Amino acid sequence: MRILLLLILAACTQAPPVYVSRIPAQSEYMACHDIQTELLIPQIDISGLEKNYQNVKEVVFKNNCASCHFGSDSYLPHLDDYNSLMTVVNVNDPLESKLWLTLSEGKMPPSYTLDSREPEAMAFLKAWLKEGAPL
Ligand code: HEC
Repeated sequence: MRILLLLILAACTQAPPVYVSRIPAQSEYMACHDIQTELLIPQIDISGLEKNYQNVKEVVFKNNCASCHFGSDSYLPHLDDYNSLMTVVNVNDPLESKLWLTLSEGKMPPSYTLDSREPEAMAFLKAWLKEGAPL
């Protein structure tokens, strides 16, 4: 089983061939993307998790946002930095926060909606926001 997964990953991470005899269908790229994402997402039980920033970062941002929003040279907001994150959170009206609206309107992540792929992560983020987005 493990070898099979490695083979799939290897096939998915291969650079495109130099001589392309036909243009691969969009669905082929998507299939690889989905397989990689499925394999990399750890199954986390969020029911007992304390609602704090560290856990939101682990459960929500690490899997879905890190490639673009982690690191100081990344796009704003820097989701790996609490103070930067708080520039898109309104503690007085959390569900009107830019962070929540961007996700619930399906604008971020750009290639899928978080709610369709990881509803638990979405629910955890909402619960954390409702508690005032504690550190
Ligand atoms: C593939 C890259 C990419 C990923 C992955 C990504 N973002 Fe973004 N994000 C961007 C870019 C580019 C912008 C700035 C341009 C824009 O607003 O569309 C942005 C802007 C934002 C903004 C500011 C929107 C505004 O109106 O100012 C928020 C909030 C945000 N992202 C949250 C997230 C969250 C949360 C995730 C993960 C669940 C995520 N993004 C995943 C690329 C990404």
